[in-house]
Amino acid sequence: MNSRHDADATAFLMNTIMGFWLGPTLWVAVRLKLPDRLRQSPARAESLAEELSANRDYLRRILNALASVGVFHRDEEDRFTNTSISEMLCQDHPSGIAQLVDTSLGGQNYPAWALLEEAVKRGECAFDIAHGVNWIEYLDQHPERREIFATAMTATTRATEKAVLNAHDFGQFELAVDIGGSHASLIGRLLERYPSARGIVFDLPDTVAAGRIHWQSASFADRLEAVGGDFFKAVPTGDLYLLKLILHDWQDDDAIAILKTIRKAIPSHGRVAIIETVLPDDASGHLGWGLDIAMMVTTGGKERSLSEHSRLLSTAGFEVIRCAPTPSMYSVVEARPV
Ligand SMILES: C[S@@+](CC[C@H](N)C(=O)[O-])C[C@H]1O[C@@H](n2cnc3c(N)ncnc32)[C@H](O)[C@@H]1O
Repeated sequence: MNSRHDADATAFLMNTIMGFWLGPTLWVAVRLKLPDRLRQSPARAESLAEELSANRDYLRRILNALASVGVFHRDEEDRFTNTSISEMLCQDHPSGIAQLVDTSLGGQNYPAWALLEEAVKRGECAFDIAHGVNWIEYLDQHPERREIFATAMTATTRATEKAVLNAHDFGQFELAVDIGGSHASLIGRLLERYPSARGIVFDLPDTVAAGRIHWQSASFADRLEAVGGDFFKAVPTGDLYLLKLILHDWQDDDAIAILKTIRKAIPSHGRVAIIETVLPDDASGHLGWGLDIAMMVTTGGKERSLSEHSRLLSTAGFEVIRCAPTPSMYSVVEARPV
């Protein structure tokens, strides 16, 4: 009995360790654009190394490790080709997964994970300790990383938009405001579903300016306005506010401050839809627990249970009227002003 449990425990721990090794391996494949290169033609490690000015032996080992788990395929002549997984990792794949891998498994976030022990002892955001600035200041100083981050956020919408929009009826509204809406990926889908509605994508000025190219020729473009600003100061008025992955970037006081800014702008019949994970009250399985640690490390924010969401909302002058779980990791918490 015990030895079976030991074997399960060992397998779990070994898989976790190997998963950790695989993360940066996948990241480097994306950074070197190996999937984009292999889309053109199959290639051996030697020729890829020459083309990319990389070390032949190291690159072969990266390719083999990733082929061993199905990311690439190695044929009988030792040529590597893409699989359905690496096809998704091409830079121009509409899923945006390459940029999500780039943001999540390496880049600016990687040094922060190495400081998790110190962060837990100090109760401070590891990213801020690693870089001396918070994630928003960092992205402001590194526009190339900001664009990769924004596309990564689009990937989190693409992967979940159907589940979210099918699970929740957003009801009657005329003007939706997507707070921190980045590339307008979510509000774009919403406007497609509600053809008489109009929308505003609201984000930091540089982010909305850079994001316009992603939706300016879409079918809904004439019904969408881009507004730059600061959600701690003022937001445009609308009768539906979307907040997807916004409050989880912040500690409670800041999250309440954002909601209070919205409370000042929202009409009495307006609604707020928070699209985030809703953690279970017990410690049962939910992908949100992992995301909670990622927020602790990278933004200093957190995932929340329904009672925690409700407390933030009521402090800011709202009441929860519905919480709709979706087949994705996110739920939709709908609230109205009181
Ligand atoms: C985690 S991302 C979520 C993006 C988008 N809602 C999505 O899910 O794809 C957070 C967004 O909040 C924006 N943001 C951060 N601070 C802001 C502020 N003070 N005012 C307006 N937007 C802000 C960021 O630029 C970023 O686009």
